Amino acid sequence: MALRSIRDFLPVLDQIGRLQRIKKPVDRMWEPAALAKWMFQALPDDKRFGLYFENVQGSAMPLAIGLLGNSTEAYAAALGVKAEEINEKWIDALRHPKRPVTVEKAACQEVVLTGKDAKLSLLPIPVWTPGKDAAPYITTNVVTRDANTGIQNFGVYRTQVKDDHTVIINISPGRHATRNTDTYTLKGKPAPIAWVIGAAPAVHLAAVANLAYGQDEVEVAGGLMGEPVAMVKCKTIDLMVPAEAEIIIEGELLPGVTEAEGPFGEFAGFMGPIEQKPVARITAITHRQKPIYYGYTSQMPPSESTMIQSLSNAGLILHKLRDAHGERSVTDLAIDLTFGGLLAHGVVAMTPLFPGHAKQVGRLVAAFAPLKRITIVDPDVDIRDPLHLEWALNARYNPVRDTVIIDDVFFPLHMDPSIRTNDPRSFSGSKIIQDATQKIDPGPFSLPPREIMMKALEVWKEVGLPDFEIPKRARLRIDKS
Ligand SMILES: Cc1cc2nc3c(=O)[nH]c(=O)nc-3n(C[C@H](O)[C@H](O)[C@H](O)COP(=O)(O)O)c2cc1C
Repeated sequence: MALRSIRDFLPVLDQIGRLQRIKKPVDRMWEPAALAKWMFQALPDDKRFGLYFENVQGSAMPLAIGLLGNSTEAYAAALGVKAEEINEKWIDALRHPKRPVTVEKAACQEVVLTGKDAKLSLLPIPVWTPGKDAAPYITTNVVTRDANTGIQNFGVYRTQVKDDHTVIINISPGRHATRNTDTYTLKGKPAPIAWVIGAAPAVHLAAVANLAYGQDEVEVAGGLMGEPVAMVKCKTIDLMVPAEAEIIIEGELLPGVTEAEGPFGEFAGFMGPIEQKPVARITAITHRQKPIYYGYTSQMPPSESTMIQSLSNAGLILHKLRDAHGERSVTDLAIDLTFGGLLAHGVVAMTPLFPGHAKQVGRLVAAFAPLKRITIVDPDVDIRDPLHLEWALNARYNPVRDTVIIDDVFFPLHMDPSIRTNDPRSFSGSKIIQDATQKIDPGPFSLPPREIMMKALEVWKEVGLPDFEIPKRARLRIDKS
């Protein structure tokens, strides 16, 4: 059955051993985030788990961190697939989106608080970089709407809590939320805006994918779930939100009103600057009975933010290459899990059909995806295995012949600290394409033939050597030996 809310996902995490419940009362101003930082900084992908703080001082609600993006396995489980099936699940959802359905009665509106009762301090909103962030921040899906088309957008935009009824939102020119809110505010009207906390895992994962403007994230979430998302109308504003979510914060973004936002720990690993950003007034908080508050941790990578964005955007790029550009020879694509797909390293596996084909695909990806480094390898390389990837680069990549540099690419300075110089006017970024596909046949692999290797495996067992799972890297090599 599809997972319709974040609470449906908790037993799944329990089942795969990826949830830790913490009973000790915690201070949301530092403890949950600092523990989440240890989880991501100290543990490898295959050892991480979601954190569920049952007792947050000053709030009646539990706080969950890192549920969807603690590991590749958790992300896959949220979509009901195995890790190696994530990209194909995305491609299927993008090919078969499902329009949401409207319901009148919703779990997310079991409790309705409006006016003075709608206080943000009721929620266990954490400080994410204790000692450095300006305030507690809401880090979840933000819903806005284009007044002209009625099409809604879901994206995650960090939101600084100014007081019980006021927030400052980090949306920038060009972002879909800004384009939507502009359709109201440029006419002097307040723009409806809502924060959705603890919706279906698929809604969360679709919200962080770089979909085109006008492409409805909730329809794609329906495609991922295999059933339409149930949506309900907000109580005080004209927006539709997922009915099965845990908590909805409703508000109005005020025309022409900005305030200083930040500093806030950014996904790139540095503190982001203070800038003027739009202000919204909270009009209502609605929630389930006994709701779960769920917030994303970002900041120093790897983090939940970089994990979920990398994994969602890889499927999206692969889909674009195959369906929009007809590049059927591309077999797989992975984005490193440390930079969220933005300014990150993307690795494409493909069978080049003609000389220069790999570079051509690399240029294509560089043009439409916000990746900074793009490496192309043959399909006989496990693109998620750093050892195998390094080998391919050493064995099949000749820098002088196989490199394309794309210069003068605009990246925001605080997102890409590598482009900073002492000259404050200089902010030009660049991209690199590395074609590490094999250009000539270098002869057989220096491994015994498959039959001998498989026979040796039997001897391995017979003499009682410790069990192991054959890594994909070894399987691919032995198959060609
Ligand atoms: C935890 C987290 C925080 C994010 N914060 C912001 C933010 O403050 N501003 C922003 O523009 N994008 C932010 N993003 C990235 C966007 O949510 C993401 O790129 C999304 O696809 C944007 O949606 P849009 O393309 O519909 O604008 C964040 C992502 C995550 C996971």
